[in-house]
Amino acid sequence: MFTVNDFLQSKLSKQKISMVTAYDYTTAKIINQSSVDSILVGDSVSMVVHGFESTLNATVEMMKMHVAAVKRGAPSKFIIADMPFLSFRKGISVAMEAVEQLMQSGGCAVKIEGVRGHEEIIKHIVQSGVPVVGHLGLTPQSVHSLSGYKVQGKSKSSYEQILEDAGTLEVLGVFALVLECVPECLGQEVTSLLKIPTIGIGAGSQVDGQVLVIQDLLGMSSGPYPKFVRQYLHGFDLTQKALDQFHVEVTQGSFPNKNESYIYE
Ligand code: KIV
Repeated sequence: MFTVNDFLQSKLSKQKISMVTAYDYTTAKIINQSSVDSILVGDSVSMVVHGFESTLNATVEMMKMHVAAVKRGAPSKFIIADMPFLSFRKGISVAMEAVEQLMQSGGCAVKIEGVRGHEEIIKHIVQSGVPVVGHLGLTPQSVHSLSGYKVQGKSKSSYEQILEDAGTLEVLGVFALVLECVPECLGQEVTSLLKIPTIGIGAGSQVDGQVLVIQDLLGMSSGPYPKFVRQYLHGFDLTQKALDQFHVEVTQGSFPNKNESYIYE
């Protein structure tokens, strides 16, 4: 299994890190047999699996169930569990309850968006022996205060704030940092500033690794896709074609055939 140490060693040896999201057992089983380094059970589950408009609807209960399903499917992968909306903003004991539940469900680490105002909680989790991944740039749990899903770090002040926050997170002891939707030069600057690896999603190519939402990577939605997504499969079209074919064969009576039916002996 990829470990926290492998994240750090990968950066030292300039070996890029691959990460995908997963939310269910079936997909996790496929990832388990792939060479992808690690899995993020993201709170994006609330949007891509449950159909909510944002990640604000993810709860610890929801995350726990998906982390456990992914763990059953991918027991040999390093699994990062997202701390859902406000779960780390209600004091240390509420945050630690959430961490406990996510780790006991199969997480190997937790990911927390932002840093300002919850520095103590991040420090406490790290000091409790639970590896923490940071997340800066576009932090979807703050979608309303960010006025939408927009590239971050475009103004001088926001650029400098992300650089400063990245440094703070490293000092607090996070072992990796997700950078979402920032200009490539900022991705590069944060990456050279930090000793811990940066994992980009819409942060250009100069970061230490890349993460994509699995449904985006497999082309499972009808789109539109963000600019940074590369579709490695056209899953939506392929699945739709398969369903249409099934419908035709059922309605024409060619499915099932004799080999697909039981005989009475
Ligand atoms: O929830 C998620 O899937 C994420 C990724 C977009 C990094 O946080």
